[in-house]
Amino acid sequence: MTLKEKDKKYIWHPFDQMKGSEILPIVKGDGCYLYDENGNQYLDGFSSWWVNAHGHSNPTIAKAVSKQMSELEHVAFGGFTHPQAVQLSENIIRLTPEGLDKVFFSDNGSTANEVALKMSIQYWSNKQIQKDKFIAIEGDYHGDTFGSMCLTSRGGFNEPFEKFMFDVDFIPRPLKENREEVISLFNKYLESGRVAAFIFEPIVQGACGMKMYDSSILSELIHLAKKYNVITIADEVFTGFGRTGKWFACDHIENKPDIMCLSKALTGGFLPLGLTVVNSDIYDGFYSDNQSHTFLHGHSYTGNPLACAAANASISLFEDDNLWENISLISKRIKFHIEEISSLKTVRSARSFGMIGAIEIDAGGKSSYFNKSGKSIYKKLLKSGLILRPLGNVFAVIPPYIITKNQTDEVFNKLKEVLIN
Ligand SMILES: Cc1ncc(COP(=O)(O)O)c(C=O)c1O
Repeated sequence: MTLKEKDKKYIWHPFDQMKGSEILPIVKGDGCYLYDENGNQYLDGFSSWWVNAHGHSNPTIAKAVSKQMSELEHVAFGGFTHPQAVQLSENIIRLTPEGLDKVFFSDNGSTANEVALKMSIQYWSNKQIQKDKFIAIEGDYHGDTFGSMCLTSRGGFNEPFEKFMFDVDFIPRPLKENREEVISLFNKYLESGRVAAFIFEPIVQGACGMKMYDSSILSELIHLAKKYNVITIADEVFTGFGRTGKWFACDHIENKPDIMCLSKALTGGFLPLGLTVVNSDIYDGFYSDNQSHTFLHGHSYTGNPLACAAANASISLFEDDNLWENISLISKRIKFHIEEISSLKTVRSARSFGMIGAIEIDAGGKSSYFNKSGKSIYKKLLKSGLILRPLGNVFAVIPPYIITKNQTDEVFNKLKEVLIN
């Protein structure tokens, strides 16, 4: 049996209807490219679900993980610590906005948000203050664990679970045109006095189709939330680590969150790891002689040394100015191509921000994750050697940061060719 046949026999893949799904076996990764078992080369235009930062099989990260493997592969994080976790926490506290000064470890983006949610609930419970409501932004995606799913915008994605989910107050995506409406609704929710936390994907909402919104209004919302003693949670799982052209999307705004959730490019795309970074006020809400104030949450692999070693090595690669220069150069190139591609008849709209380009295809039907028009284009692109997994009818160009100008041109030329023909 071939790899593909064995896969079909034994494996259930995420996010795809297994009936009729086409799975491509990949056997090697090198820089921006992935290779299948027949030696065909594919440019990874979506950084393998937005996690890859420095290219595939980056030797610096590979070496750091390999070294760590023979020193300490794992130790329980309850009651123990290790050098890689301490170094990573020092790095994270140095890099994240001022005021965030304690790091809680988990395993992925969903758990980083799940932890933030549980912390927010228990923070108020420890203080015996009744705050049990949450605000999020329409279109937000915060993950697939149950709590993170509840914080996610309603719609087809989570439909089978909706009757089990807790209610969340959603505000429209804040834009210059609806500023008054958004602020007024937000204030109305805050005035209930019951809001525990406000969670948001800062500036770019990834999974709903790379929707971008106004950073100054977000800053205003954070300010208002703080005025009403509401915990602010920035879900930087996708936007963190250079994706928007700065370390974090929150670096583009004036007011800073109380909690920041990190994952994806944190390890450069090598290993799963989630972090929930909090300010001292949140931490102090649990620091107590009262045992029931303890945050009783953790996972077997919490703080795994291999994942931490990958993250530290990845961060060391970010410290190279050349990488940021490339990020700036490629961001401009993406913007240039996005402006050009938006004039195509088959393009409904196109937008970019930092190392993110999004092209909404107009092939009939509403723009959504369930619009099927992306599928046939995806297959054509794959044949031409480019991987761009669509979000419904939206193609997102989210390349590794080491991509060259020529490779970026290649991505857009291939896309244009398919969209014209
Ligand atoms: C903003 C955001 N939050 C959370 C998640 C969930 O992360 P994970 O897939 O690692 O659970 C994602 C994943 O795409 C995301 O984009």
